[in-house]
Amino acid sequence: MKKIIIAITLIASIFALSSCGKDTIAKRATKKDLKIGTAFASDVYDPEGQERIKEFSNIIVAENIMKWANLRPNAKFWNWSDIDNALKFAEENNIDVKWHTLFWHQQNSNFLYNMKTKEDAEKMMDEHITTVMQRYKGRIKVYDVVNEMFEENGSFRENIWYKLMGEEYLAHALTVARAQDPDAKLYLNEFNNECVGHPKADAMYNFVKKLKEEGVPIDGVGMQLHLATDLPFEPDKIRANIRRYAELGIDISFSEIDVRIPASKFNDPAEIEMQKYIYTTLLDIALTEPNVKSYIVWGMYDRTSWVPATFPNYGNACIYDVNYNKKEVYEEIFNKLK
Ligand code: XIL
Repeated sequence: MKKIIIAITLIASIFALSSCGKDTIAKRATKKDLKIGTAFASDVYDPEGQERIKEFSNIIVAENIMKWANLRPNAKFWNWSDIDNALKFAEENNIDVKWHTLFWHQQNSNFLYNMKTKEDAEKMMDEHITTVMQRYKGRIKVYDVVNEMFEENGSFRENIWYKLMGEEYLAHALTVARAQDPDAKLYLNEFNNECVGHPKADAMYNFVKKLKEEGVPIDGVGMQLHLATDLPFEPDKIRANIRRYAELGIDISFSEIDVRIPASKFNDPAEIEMQKYIYTTLLDIALTEPNVKSYIVWGMYDRTSWVPATFPNYGNACIYDVNYNKKEVYEEIFNKLK
């Protein structure tokens, strides 16, 4: 009897120590029906990175490998293997994968600029959507169909698709995508679109409302949320915006969260507090507004974050520091999900 008890205790403690038995952010979020996660880069192929991803994420998104320049550098070659390997890891660990992004004005392949006519663009668009979505049907559950379609003043961005097809390219892409995989959730993703009253946010809302009225298939709007501790953070305006989308039956993804700190203030306790406040307030919103479906950070680590290269004199925007140590904000996210 004693031996049996010792054996049971031993097995129980091994289970508690391994990641499968551990209480994690990913597991807590799953219980609350929230998708939480990160953009992944090469960490998704490395054992330590995989452990960190599993602890934090029940959904992941590719930081770069699903963009045209990476996926389809020339018209005939498709680089599927990186995506397939990441997807395999995710599926083995019950993690959803979001596609980012079918169409965008950046990180495009050069051959796209050979398109001359509306017909060229439609054909290319349809081929891209069909090839990706047929391959991953039932496996990729959420798509950013178009990324960053507006200018700050609310006019349409004149990307390569807009130039050849006009504003109609958006409805076209959504319609073709729905036909390929009716179960996939289709999103339009944008930055600086979170606060009601901002010209871009209002333009996007009005456009999505129009799409709904016209019966164009769309499930959600992504709010990237690349934020800074020294810029205004207005949770009431974010909530108000989310609620008007709820009335349209539109879901929201917090799709690329990071909160950068001015380099001169990396050690300033007030900035660190502000960063925690922003991350946790966004989580509060995600947990209390039923149409917010996901809370995704744009990379977990200060070491590899895109922020310092993009926003000069800013950094430390993530939930792990440059030495891959968890910051307090990580614990706060964990606690809030209890
Ligand atoms: C960024 C990546 O993080 C960088 O590695 C890359 O060099 C440029 O793109 N909004 C988006 C993302 O929708 O695709 C961008 O990702 C960050 C801003």
